Amino acid sequence: MNRKRILVTGGAGFIGGNFVQYMVEKYPIYDIYNLDLLTYAGDLSKHQEIEKQENYFFLKADIADRGAINSLFVEYKFDFVVHFAAESHVDRSITNPGIFVQTNVLGTQVLLDAAKQYGITKFIHVSTDEVYGDLEFDPTTFFTEDTPLQPNSPYSASKASSDLLVRAYHETFGLPINITRCSNNYGPYHFPEKLIPLTISRVLNNQKVPVYGDGKNVRDWLHVLDHCSAIDLVMHEGINGEVYNVGGHNERTNLEVVKTIIETLNKSEELIKYVSDRLGHDKRYAIDPSKLEKLGWKPKYTFETGIAQTIQWYIDNKKWWEKIISGEYQTYFEKQYTN
Ligand code: NAD
Ligand code: DAU
Repeated sequence: MNRKRILVTGGAGFIGGNFVQYMVEKYPIYDIYNLDLLTYAGDLSKHQEIEKQENYFFLKADIADRGAINSLFVEYKFDFVVHFAAESHVDRSITNPGIFVQTNVLGTQVLLDAAKQYGITKFIHVSTDEVYGDLEFDPTTFFTEDTPLQPNSPYSASKASSDLLVRAYHETFGLPINITRCSNNYGPYHFPEKLIPLTISRVLNNQKVPVYGDGKNVRDWLHVLDHCSAIDLVMHEGINGEVYNVGGHNERTNLEVVKTIIETLNKSEELIKYVSDRLGHDKRYAIDPSKLEKLGWKPKYTFETGIAQTIQWYIDNKKWWEKIISGEYQTYFEKQYTN
């Protein structure tokens, strides 16, 4: 039997990187191809361990480069595509929406065309709960797979557009697909522009932590390895054409998250600095994951166990994030938080 070839786009980023490591270790019978452009968010040093494995390969390419993507599909004849590559930070989409359309919409369409033309077993499109817009502060309401798409930021609008293209390629051309829509991830190798790693790294350095608005916005946090196991399940057991929401019922206000980190690190809440609110700031996200649970998924981490493990990881891996918060990151940080 031929070995299965899995194309993972964005495998040098946060979630894609965790997924690549998870798959290389769990499935020696699969060849895992990590395709990534290595933008500011991509970093290959995280893969030093798995680079020694015979079932791991790296391909540098832009998903929006049709010629390059077609050549790779011809050469490698992928069986599965697990598509993470994207511009992923909401704040950056507010200052520069164009690259979000280029990568998230056009890049996805290039991949869909290649998958359609050269044939695949399944295309897994990794999307986000942000495509549903936001919820009121009512703990009885949740996003289901039937919630209408009402994206509010250029980032979530670009993700919703890509979701609709994936759906259309399934309906029109019969492309075998699944779409997953996950809540906020956290865990190892999370880029320190996002709330949790930003807070941990700044608190460890005794620097102020910027909290947008009143800090009462709610996010539904999921450990990245629980997201990886969800995608693994959908890839193997998901019903063709279906959408699956991924979330673990871990709703916290941003202030609760920041205070938990400060308390765990034995620092003072005086490090909190309230700053101007994000434009169009979504109030609350909360996932109903019952459809995926019926398929057999169960998260391993509670927020308490996951955040403790994550904080410890950032203490143990200071070299990794110190490297990242130098250079371009400093310019970004000053621009973002001076405005
Ligand atoms: P990330 O920003 O950490 O990583 C994105 C990766 O994509 C990087 O390695 C980058 O180099 C690569 N990339 C960007 N443009 C590319 C291009 N044109 N061609 C090839 N590679 C390119 O993102 P993440 O947080 O790991 O998110 C991964 C996916 O999961 C995204 O599609 C995102 O929308 C989705 N998602 C993220 C979260 C979250 O909480 N982070 C939650 C739900 C869904
Ligand atoms: O819900 C899934 C989404 O989660 C993913 O699709 C996105 O790719 C991912 O970036 C994340 O989006 P958020 O905007 O929710 O994540 P972020 O970490 O940027 O912000 C989390 C919350 O914290 C949000 O309410 C804004 C707030 N925040 C963020 C930053 C960076 C602050 O208060 N201060 C900050 O400095």
